[in-house]
Amino acid sequence: MAKKLIAANWKENPGSAKDAVRLFKAVAAVQNPRADVLICAPFLFLEPLADTYRRLRPAGRKSRLALGAEDVFWEEKGAFTGGIGPKMLASFGVRHMLIGHSERRKWFRETDAMVNRKAKQVLQDGFTAILCVGEPRTVRKKGSRAAEAFVRAQLEKDLKGVPKGKLIVAYEPIWAIGSGEGARPEDAATMARCIKRALARKFGKVKVLYGGSVDGKTARNYVTLKDIDGALVGGASLKADEFKKIINSI
Ligand code: 13P
Repeated sequence: MAKKLIAANWKENPGSAKDAVRLFKAVAAVQNPRADVLICAPFLFLEPLADTYRRLRPAGRKSRLALGAEDVFWEEKGAFTGGIGPKMLASFGVRHMLIGHSERRKWFRETDAMVNRKAKQVLQDGFTAILCVGEPRTVRKKGSRAAEAFVRAQLEKDLKGVPKGKLIVAYEPIWAIGSGEGARPEDAATMARCIKRALARKFGKVKVLYGGSVDGKTARNYVTLKDIDGALVGGASLKADEFKKIINSI
């Protein structure tokens, strides 16, 4: 079986750098050769985490744990107050950047046009964009076909004119995020196939992660499926024991 990716999205957590380092150390201790692990942490914590990792890692050993960003701005530098560009992130060893998370779309009013600019910049700079897509509950209620059409339209808008590059898609149905009600694994797999089909011509084989109420108990139901290449985990990634279970579910 191909290696799976277990990615954490810490969101606006934990409350301090000290707690972030503690959580990171606990996760870094988990070993599963069948999994790659990615920790997407708040910008502020990337430096202390990168430092911690350098000290933990014996020199020269290729790591299976990487640090990622939860967002990125599309400009490299300049008069963009609060902006953090891809190359700034790369200076901390970050090569994976989440874009288009539904919480960014909701709370920060990010539009598909903005997500598209981010995707263009990240891919152009040679980094990996993890594009988050997913339908709201009103759409899912209309059935799988409607949900697929919604996600395909999102992909089209978010990836319009982007250069061919390293792309991962996270399918995160909005209604499943933080609700304790994950998507049915067969629905998630069907959506993953639909996403892969939509992107195959331009991007070749694209990895699709599932996200939305994944925990230590349910992870196995998704990540062992052929069409699902891993998970993007929110709440359960903040509890080291729970996240360990997810990593070990592969
Ligand atoms: P939960 O795992 O808390 O449902 O969050 C999923 C998510 O939004 C990951 O990006």
